[in-house]
Amino acid sequence: MLNFEFHNPTKIFFGKGQISKLSEVTPKNAKIMLAYGGGSIKQNGVYDQVYQALQGYDIIEFAGIEPNPTYETLMQAVELARRENITFILAVGGGSVIDGVKFISVAIPFAGEPWDILEKGLGKSLTQAIPFGSVLTIPATGSEMNSGSVVSRKATKQKLAFGSPLCFPMFSVLDPEVMRTLPARQIANGIVDAYTHVMEQYLTYPVGAALQDRIAEGILLTLIEQGPKVYQNPNDYEAAANLMWSATMALNGLLRLGVPTDWATHMIGHELTALFGIDHARTLAIVSPSLYRVMKENKKEKLLQYGERVWGIKEGTEEERIEKAIAQTVAFYHSLDIDTRLSAYTSDYQRTANEIVDRFISRGWKQLGEKRDVTPDKVKEIVEMSY
Ligand code: NZQ
Ligand code: ZN
Repeated sequence: MLNFEFHNPTKIFFGKGQISKLSEVTPKNAKIMLAYGGGSIKQNGVYDQVYQALQGYDIIEFAGIEPNPTYETLMQAVELARRENITFILAVGGGSVIDGVKFISVAIPFAGEPWDILEKGLGKSLTQAIPFGSVLTIPATGSEMNSGSVVSRKATKQKLAFGSPLCFPMFSVLDPEVMRTLPARQIANGIVDAYTHVMEQYLTYPVGAALQDRIAEGILLTLIEQGPKVYQNPNDYEAAANLMWSATMALNGLLRLGVPTDWATHMIGHELTALFGIDHARTLAIVSPSLYRVMKENKKEKLLQYGERVWGIKEGTEEERIEKAIAQTVAFYHSLDIDTRLSAYTSDYQRTANEIVDRFISRGWKQLGEKRDVTPDKVKEIVEMSY
């Protein structure tokens, strides 16, 4: 196992009715900006529950943070917050709203051009942020308990990530009952996103981190067992609770401790969203099977372990078992009605591999993956195999 440090300051309130606890943790006398998305929270009662819990607080709203939140929209919130001297932000929504609020929180006190935080990778050097909390409405990204954020820029078709220790939510409320109104497509997205978060931190090479491996396999098995139940019936509270906690655990920092991590699937996937607007999780379902195939020598031992412990694959040559493990993964995505080929989402895909490679080279991203050997040539091969 590799050395590690670990600190996660986010307080979690999990379960039915927990939104009512908001006033216990929201700073008294705060001037709050309540930030949310396209309005689903008004249809499912979450908005009313939040106001009920925060009676007496001074609240202004910022609505309209879109899926794959954009710099253009978020800067409007930054201006509003600066004008109104906001001292606390409450994100009510999914990964997009929470990621958006992380950006708003550090952009408000930022002296320069906030886009530089993303483009010039200034996350680690940030010194100031407006504190924030979240009420999560869709299990998927883990943003509710991590310090990362992904923001898109419409004008330039970019989608970039940043992270800062200042960007952990102070608290997050996870009430699985809010999932009842989720469209099936979003439930499937959440399952696949969480699944891939585990894979990015697990499917690398062995370093003797037995506990991290088994936690990872436990989350994968839980997603395979519980995810389809929620996909069929979002009113199944028990399954929803298990899915929600699995998605949080998949990316709250525990799995990456003491192990190498990959993240190349995410980096390539972000470009597919930037170029074609494909849902984040679906880009991962397009890229990951090809990435596992192209990088299978690197990932051989873990692919065999994954096949055996997660899918029960014990028979056949190593080559056959690896292919079976990847095929099972794809079949799982298909069972959630998620297409795993780029051509199912756009007819304009022929130049995609070259475009992504050009973008990566221009940013100096020539060595991705756990062994830093996902080179531009490999990226090209992976993307072309995904057409
Ligand atoms: O905007 P509203 O009206 O709220 O509708 C949303 C949105 O249309 C809807 N929704 C959410 N909760 C609902 C609901 N509809 C009905 N009932 C509910 N309870 O679902 C749609 C999608 O929401 P979004 O927040 O975009 O989904 P998700 O949580 O999957 O977030 C995706 C974003 O997170 C980033 C992705 O790149 C993408 O931009 N990620 C963030 C990460 C992080 N911070 O650690 C890691 C991830 O890998 C990912 O990159
Ligand atoms: Zn993801």
